Amino acid sequence: MLIKRKKTWERPEREVTPEEIYLKRRDFVKMMGVAGVGAGLLTNGIDIFDLFGKKDDEKLIKIPETPTSHLYPAKKNAKYTVDRKITDELVAARYNNFYEFSSFKSVWKHVDEMEVRPWQVEVGGLVERPRVYDIDELVREMPLEERLYRFRCVEAWAMTVPWTGFPMSALIKKVSPLSSAKYIRMRTFHNKKWALQQKLRFWLPWPYEEGLTMEEAMNELTFLATGIYGHELPKQHGAPVRLVVPWKYGFKNIKSIVRIDFVEDEPKTFWNTLVPDEYDFTANVNPEVPHPRWSQATERIIDTDERVPTIKYNGYGEFVARMYGKR
Ligand code: MTE
Repeated sequence: MLIKRKKTWERPEREVTPEEIYLKRRDFVKMMGVAGVGAGLLTNGIDIFDLFGKKDDEKLIKIPETPTSHLYPAKKNAKYTVDRKITDELVAARYNNFYEFSSFKSVWKHVDEMEVRPWQVEVGGLVERPRVYDIDELVREMPLEERLYRFRCVEAWAMTVPWTGFPMSALIKKVSPLSSAKYIRMRTFHNKKWALQQKLRFWLPWPYEEGLTMEEAMNELTFLATGIYGHELPKQHGAPVRLVVPWKYGFKNIKSIVRIDFVEDEPKTFWNTLVPDEYDFTANVNPEVPHPRWSQATERIIDTDERVPTIKYNGYGEFVARMYGKR
């Protein structure tokens, strides 16, 4: 049987990400050195991993029952709302970035092996009360609420999504950071059994890590999400807990967190380590500062394909601009 796979240049723009192009270039260089044979498959843009993934007609959004499922939907917090239409849930669930599983947008096809229970989040470093939280313990202890936020990816697409979760400041207060703590560093799982890309692209700087200054982490907008659209997070959105910082580019919004450390120095991050001149630590949304390879002046809404002007700090200046002086 002949299976026709679409090449990169046959796929619509929305299916091809700048990072994907970057990674393929990098794979080419690496594989020429490491393996030689096989480089063609990756560099031709053939989605060979989709061959092993789910089919399009299989269920897109799967929410397994957990000990805390009954806490959703949580009460809406009317302070955090947006003058944009909520993005169609089905569009948001099939258009994800989660490089541990795929460098294509069809992440949902590759997440079945992942297990979100049992799950622990270890909180430590420069704190008085380090603690290992079982995820259900964490969810029960925190004040769950729903917030509608804009979300802006560095690739210049945008969505508007209702997240359920709790302010990061509530967790920070529980562990009492020492005065020497200047940053927090967050880490995703590293599991080659679940995440094919962690196995195949073993040279990338796994596990995915991100960081914030303490002031950013304590900002009222900084949110740890355990749910979306009124239920728990599906795996492709970063179950069971992920960061949401809506004034920053999407890559800061680290998914499936297993560890949070309070540290003295600015932490290394996944994208900044890979491509330091393209992805900086601060990464605030700014229409006036183009990415080295494309403009950030406008953004594309993923479910309507409308192109609209980008807003500085993604529209959250009143909450965050004071942290950055004139920047
Ligand atoms: N977190 C991890 N662990 N791995 C990733 O590849 N991608 C980031 C961010 N968090 C990523 C991640 C990027 S580039 C974006 S745009 C957002 O997740 C996408 O979030 P969404 O798929 O829920 O829309």
